[in-house]
Amino acid sequence: MNRRNMLKNTTLATIGASAGMACANDSRGSETASALLASENIVGKKDVNPVNPAYFIPNRFKDKTIIITGCARGMGKAAVKRAALEGANIVGVDWLKEEGNAVINEIVKDGGSAKFVYGDVSTNETCKEMVKTAVDSYGKLDYAINNAGVMDAIFPGDPINYEKQKHLTFSRCHEATDEYWDVVMRVNTTGVFKCMREELKQMVAQNQGGAIVNVASVAGLRGFSGTPSYVASKHAVNGLTKNAAIDYAEYGIRINSVCMANTATPMVERAYQLVMAKVKASGGNAGMGNIKTKSLLQYTDSNHRDATPEEQVAIMLFLLSEEASNITGANYATDGGFTAY
Ligand SMILES: NC(=O)c1ccc[n+]([C@@H]2O[C@H](COP(=O)([O-])OP(=O)(O)OC[C@H]3O[C@@H](n4cnc5c(N)ncnc54)[C@H](O)[C@@H]3O)[C@@H](O)[C@H]2O)c1
Repeated sequence: MNRRNMLKNTTLATIGASAGMACANDSRGSETASALLASENIVGKKDVNPVNPAYFIPNRFKDKTIIITGCARGMGKAAVKRAALEGANIVGVDWLKEEGNAVINEIVKDGGSAKFVYGDVSTNETCKEMVKTAVDSYGKLDYAINNAGVMDAIFPGDPINYEKQKHLTFSRCHEATDEYWDVVMRVNTTGVFKCMREELKQMVAQNQGGAIVNVASVAGLRGFSGTPSYVASKHAVNGLTKNAAIDYAEYGIRINSVCMANTATPMVERAYQLVMAKVKASGGNAGMGNIKTKSLLQYTDSNHRDATPEEQVAIMLFLLSEEASNITGANYATDGGFTAY
């Protein structure tokens, strides 16, 4: 059963927005579902269509080298594909070896220029290796998108098995394990710090400026129920972004973050499965609240669609590009209006 039918057919209500954080629910679920369905009857109602996934700007990144972490799937995969079409030399990084390699090989097969670095972005070894690969292969590093991230402590390559993995999943503070807290903080916050450290060392040494986009979340701008480590880690990404923007402005290096709400990626699908399992195991009270969980556009859309990876990538690449020359230190709410209400 797909997620939409699930929403209609059960009293579970809301798919949250802290990286598609699915929320369980109780009796208020059916009210929320009715309200959503009612909004579909408005006269003159019009949906906003997502950007065409095939759209790109030829040669925008010609001769530019871009590191993109988390390239094996989701938004990272969409980013490496579009940036390569726009002429960039790509260094894609992921700890999913097979999937990451496949994405990069496809780019090369289609005539693009790309290398794959296998590893964990929260290790110095991987961060040094990705910058070295950029310099050894393409002579320099111009831009980076630090996109790799996790919502829970389950390795993204492992299938979901809630009973065995529940100590690794998102939980309220008093129920959360050290392992959940540590892994999410290490990947999302320490990972972004270590990636930036190596990228910035190279950009400063080159003395040619540069730009970095860190992928935070709407959970870096707001609190969400039942997901303390994710919310804390993404607030930290936004803080790191502002801090680095100040320190590197004088080197001509711009640093921004993007803060999306629900975007249709494997991360969201997995989160949904985990929440469903959590709700089932808890008898309906998974401790995940029925607070606002939809973006404005998701709420008003006839199908309550998530954002697409391509919609997010369009903004990330714009922020790297020369057109964004006056933008630095911003935590962009690329969230379909989530934080507008
Ligand atoms: N999808 C959403 O709704 C949403 C919303 C807000 C923020 N985000 C953020 O967007 C980013 C991308 O998410 P996505 O939805 O595309 O997720 P995804 O799970 O579909 O893809 C993330 C990729 O990053 C890789 N990765 C994760 N940790 C890594 C590590 N330590 N080292 C190397 N690779 C690693 C994964 O293997 C995967 O290929 C994440 O930072 C996420 O927190 C997503």
